Amino acid sequence: MIGLIVAYTNNRVIGNNGKIPWRIKGEQRRFKELTTGNVVIIGRRSYDEIGHPLPNRFTIVVSRTAKYEAENCVTVKSLKEAIEYAQKNRPGENIYLSGGAGIYSEGLNMADKLFVTEVDLDIDGDTFFPKFDESLYEKTIDEHVDGEIPYTYVTFTKKKTEEGSFDE
Ligand SMILES: NC(=O)c1ccc[n+]([C@@H]2O[C@H](COP(=O)([O-])OP(=O)(O)OC[C@H]3O[C@@H](n4cnc5c(N)ncnc54)[C@H](OP(=O)(O)O)[C@@H]3O)[C@@H](O)[C@H]2O)c1
Repeated sequence: MIGLIVAYTNNRVIGNNGKIPWRIKGEQRRFKELTTGNVVIIGRRSYDEIGHPLPNRFTIVVSRTAKYEAENCVTVKSLKEAIEYAQKNRPGENIYLSGGAGIYSEGLNMADKLFVTEVDLDIDGDTFFPKFDESLYEKTIDEHVDGEIPYTYVTFTKKKTEEGSFDE
């Protein structure tokens, strides 16, 4: 399964000045739950923000300029190469496209499921999640969490288009 995992605000902001512009305790719980034991594909700037490979999962950094090698971490030069590397070397593990904007726009069409945290904020940012056609997906609302900044975990599952699918 190729998934895409992202948190975006009402105005689709995902980042500002190289960082995620909100702090909500517990909001990254689903990211950890889903990606642990699996493969995370991440752009170079987002990796720099974290600064190290994520524990208990395999990290593939996409960069044409930098090279990060560590235990459970490799660097490749394109998203296509990253997916091929994961499918060959990490069979049976799920692949999660984990940002930033370049990975999301190139990877959106490759993902079977989009795991989105809808963050109930309208804020300024410099990095956005691309607009996509929601009618191509089944949307489920998985969990809503109230608080100072409420958020909702939702999943968009790509509709099958062949005969016998629920598209008919
Ligand atoms: N809210 C969220 O869920 C979330 C998730 C992740 C990141 N973020 C935020 O997003 C921002 C970073 O995103 P960003 O879009 O600026 O940077 P990014 O995608 O993390 O990194 C950009 C760099 O990654 C490499 N890259 C990305 N896509 C590539 C592709 N398709 N092919 C080859 N190389 C590729 C290039 O590295 P080289 O220049 O080295 O070639 C590119 O300069 C930060 O603010 C971060 O906090 C938010």
